[in-house]
Amino acid sequence: MDYLRIIGNQRLKGEVAISGAKNAALPLIAATILAKNEVKISNLPAVQDIKTLLKLLENLGASHSFRDNTATIDTSSLASTIATYDIVRTMRASILVLGPLLARFGHCEVSLPGGCAIGQRPIDLHLKALEQMGATISIKSGYVIAEAPQGLHGARIIFDKVTVTGTENILMAAALAKGETTIINAAKEPEVIQLCEELQKAGVEIEGIGQNEIRIVGTDREPLQFLDIHVIPDRIEAGTYLCAGAITQSSITLQNVNPHHLEAVLVKFQQMGYGLDTDETSITIHPASTITPISITTSEYPGFPTDMQAQFMALSLLAEGTSIIEERLFENRFMHVSELRRFGADIKLKGNIATIIGPTKLYGADVMATDLRASSALVLAGLAAQGQTNVHRIYHLDRGYEAIEKKLGALGAKIFRLRE
Ligand code: EPZ
Repeated sequence: MDYLRIIGNQRLKGEVAISGAKNAALPLIAATILAKNEVKISNLPAVQDIKTLLKLLENLGASHSFRDNTATIDTSSLASTIATYDIVRTMRASILVLGPLLARFGHCEVSLPGGCAIGQRPIDLHLKALEQMGATISIKSGYVIAEAPQGLHGARIIFDKVTVTGTENILMAAALAKGETTIINAAKEPEVIQLCEELQKAGVEIEGIGQNEIRIVGTDREPLQFLDIHVIPDRIEAGTYLCAGAITQSSITLQNVNPHHLEAVLVKFQQMGYGLDTDETSITIHPASTITPISITTSEYPGFPTDMQAQFMALSLLAEGTSIIEERLFENRFMHVSELRRFGADIKLKGNIATIIGPTKLYGADVMATDLRASSALVLAGLAAQGQTNVHRIYHLDRGYEAIEKKLGALGAKIFRLRE
């Protein structure tokens, strides 16, 4: 297995190009199941999760090409509607094929995603919503069996919790349903907004995009004609690279970003004393004269993203004082704490609240990645630590960060991908 070796305590400098957003690309790829035409999607990140979902579509009978961060996907020859365990277990976002397959074919079987390191992550809200739209749902041998032989019909869906992929699944199901669907308590992430916009451009009547109430008028199983799609920038990758600049007290510039998607994160950098220059497509971060401790509570967009929690915990290790981080979305998203302690971190956990005592002199260590964003926090700590760090099990990292060692290396980090 690959691991990353980092020689820390190096200043970074220069520019880094941010890739397309994995969490925008995944629902857009799933949405091609609704298409009558071949769909071209550009600015895709070359990361494992994208390859996994393309492989899933191929297993269902679709054809695709993927070159230079662009995929061309044709689902006209889709023959199977069974998303098998061997693929779904490697990526829970595979659940995003449930809504479109059911809407187009009237039946499908999708392996239950199972839990993951950061929590149970049930899909009960997805299933209840599809039942309201006329589906019969049963669970058998670890599979969701969904039937809607007469097709899906519109419904008034009220989500008990804001769910990103739940909103996306229902948006795609509603696009081909008969009649009008209203989603109340919808997710407002930029990735959800792009899905709405591409469905709208493909001919679906949608109102309330980016609001917590979205209204969709379905085409009654008439397939969609998609325009070419260009994936929005990855706001979490961008936040992670800003943390790389911050934790090494460097000035670096991010290109191909949308600062508006990162407002809650940029405010936190400023509160910690970092300087920021932004324009429409770039962000430059500058060192802080004193790194001020921070208080963070994760919440749904536009609040502080849970996917940036681990990275800011690593950064807060350097702050001159005590920082508090409350994780509200997932019940077990502190797996990085025990690994950060190996660098010398002083972190206390009580329920879903972490108290980080800074500043900490960080020393390089052997550490193990546990989930995608936790592993990026370990790389960040390694960049700041004195000496050598080895981050193991970086397949977690490769799921969501394109060529991280190349991008960090180009900024001056001493980072190498080695094989165990
Ligand atoms: C999406 O996951 C993202 N993944 C996650 O990013 C992100 O952390 C999460 O949203 C929150 O922002 C993708 O977009 C592919 P949720 P998702 O449904 O949709 C509970 C990454 O790092 N819930 O919004 O699975 C759930 O347990 C990943 O790229 C139910 O109870 O998250 C959680 O506590 C990690 N029942 C909360 O809602 C349901 O049916 C939010 O989950 C669905 C969700």
